[in-house]
Amino acid sequence: MSTNSKPVIAALEQALADTYALALKTQNYHWNVEGPNFFGLHTLFEEQYTDAQGAADELAERIRALGAPAPGGLQAFLDMTKIADAKQNSDAKAMIDDLAASHETMGATLRSGISVAEEAGDPATADMLTARLTIHDKSAWMLRSLKG
Ligand SMILES: [Fe+2]
Repeated sequence: MSTNSKPVIAALEQALADTYALALKTQNYHWNVEGPNFFGLHTLFEEQYTDAQGAADELAERIRALGAPAPGGLQAFLDMTKIADAKQNSDAKAMIDDLAASHETMGATLRSGISVAEEAGDPATADMLTARLTIHDKSAWMLRSLKG
């Protein structure tokens, strides 16, 4: 591993931990959501956690491609992530607010990671994180739009 890949690996680890935590929270809300919009929210949350799970795999494999081990385990992710767990007994509106805020937190992680990757001369990682940023910005917009 070259010296200037270290900050990029740290940025990828942060993105991975946040992505994994957001996937798990979104899946929890997919399980627990109730109310008149049940079907739409249940389906939207499934699309979002499925996307995030796939992204976690890509981010971990990018870490491996840069020569570092992928962090493993819930404790490792918990120690790193800025995304709080699902709040139990949330109503649908609270779930939507929480997820929208978490997608914005994810966006901040990714913006920072993109800068790190660009400064390190790693356009492949910058591109990967930029693609993720587009998706999380879109998810935040879709969730905010549900509130009318
Ligand atoms: Fe399901």
